Amino acid sequence: MKTIKFFSGQELPVELHKVRMVQKLFLKPIEERYDAIEDGGYNTFLLNTKDIFLDMLTDSGTNAMSDNQISSMLQADDAYAGSQSFYRMEKALQDVFNKKMVLPVHQGRAAENIISQVFIKEGDVIPMNYHFTTTKEHMEINGGTVLEIYTDEALKIKSDFLFKGNIDIQKLKDVIAEYGKEHVAFIRMEASTNLIGGQPFSMQNMREVREVADEHGIMVVLDASLIGENAYFIKEREEEFKDASIKEILHAMCGMAELVYFSSRKVSSTRGGGICTDDNDIFLKMRDLVPLFEGFLTYGGMSVREIEAMAVGLYETTDETVINQSPSFIKYAVEKLDSFGIPVVMPAGALGCHIDAKDFLSHVPQQEYPAGALAAALFIISGIRGMERGTISSVRDENGDDILADVELLRLAFPRRVFTLSQTEYMIDRVNWLFNNRELVGGLKFVDEPPVLRFFMGRLAPTSDWPQKLIAKFKEDFGDSL
Ligand code: F0G
Repeated sequence: MKTIKFFSGQELPVELHKVRMVQKLFLKPIEERYDAIEDGGYNTFLLNTKDIFLDMLTDSGTNAMSDNQISSMLQADDAYAGSQSFYRMEKALQDVFNKKMVLPVHQGRAAENIISQVFIKEGDVIPMNYHFTTTKEHMEINGGTVLEIYTDEALKIKSDFLFKGNIDIQKLKDVIAEYGKEHVAFIRMEASTNLIGGQPFSMQNMREVREVADEHGIMVVLDASLIGENAYFIKEREEEFKDASIKEILHAMCGMAELVYFSSRKVSSTRGGGICTDDNDIFLKMRDLVPLFEGFLTYGGMSVREIEAMAVGLYETTDETVINQSPSFIKYAVEKLDSFGIPVVMPAGALGCHIDAKDFLSHVPQQEYPAGALAAALFIISGIRGMERGTISSVRDENGDDILADVELLRLAFPRRVFTLSQTEYMIDRVNWLFNNRELVGGLKFVDEPPVLRFFMGRLAPTSDWPQKLIAKFKEDFGDSL
């Protein structure tokens, strides 16, 4: 797709799909949005979608499904064991990821549970480009320590480095030398590294990781939840692959990992997940945990309808016009936000626009959760739901102090083929208004804090009456407009 040049000179990301089924949305008045965020403890996870206008929380399980995916659900073969739906999905994974053996699981973190239980022992380390929340939790529960060995560019908000998801090869070598290869459970590479702004790694980097892994006999595990977008960025940004097909790139990437796992909530625009490998020993080590935790080996806790749609969705991941839709809209939005001086992660990546809340709300101390405050403020003034990806998503140390996140981001996700360009413009406009009124936004504090993954269910409150002041200014500027 890319952008299509207009006679007027404008460049817009034109949709190569048409909308054939729609869901009605409501944009409620600001007073009702305020009541909703109060009820939700200033945590956007605790909002009800009836109060939300644009749900940019995540792309997980919210990508639009295609006509072919929906129609495939009708041929689902309901069987506890040996369902034909599973074999169609297995075939799709063989074709798209070029891996022979497949274990189905109910979603990505279920794969993380099984992989961590089987391959991590007490005292092990797991070097990786960057952690994901559930990944890290599963690894630590099993006695492992996550070591993030990203490059110096990775955490820079504004950079022109095209592969911020790369592993620093020297740091990888140092980790192996320091801990010894027997204590390195495996090396994990996450495609389109989620928590640092959907940033890809390069094929060249993966090759170098593979070389080091081969030298020491260490397994490489690839988190392929956002592999389609990473493959697209490789094609766009790595000269050697400019004429390669997405499928060829996917094969090359998966070919360098002994084990590939994924959340189907992202990669195939469905629900579900899976683990695949070509290695029979690796397969057998994990196999018996699937019926124990997930369901029989031919459904893994998923509905067979989802499995059918997954098979079709996996094939669609090889279609450049499908996987570049979200990155194209993100790029459009990021460049426009940047032109207004709004601090946003650059270069534009996958998954969503990532606003740097530490800079946006530089007057709010990190201990008062600027990314959480920004998420709450944006919801109040726009009905747009984003996700905090900062210190609230982190944990406390043994003294009970917050471990301050490396980056304090508000993520505004672009699920594939869901939002229109005018909705995107609305988001840009409201973020810009908030930026111009940023001094009105204050901090948050926890009033109810669960010990594990606190960002999901934790409740917070504003540290002052800043929401009222923000609402007053909104009414002054927009009157009765929603
Ligand atoms: N790995 C990555 C890179 C992910 O982004 C996610 C989920 C998972 C694993 C876990 O998969 O949700 O199916 O259990 N990311 C979602 C998000 C939750 O909003 O970014 P899951």
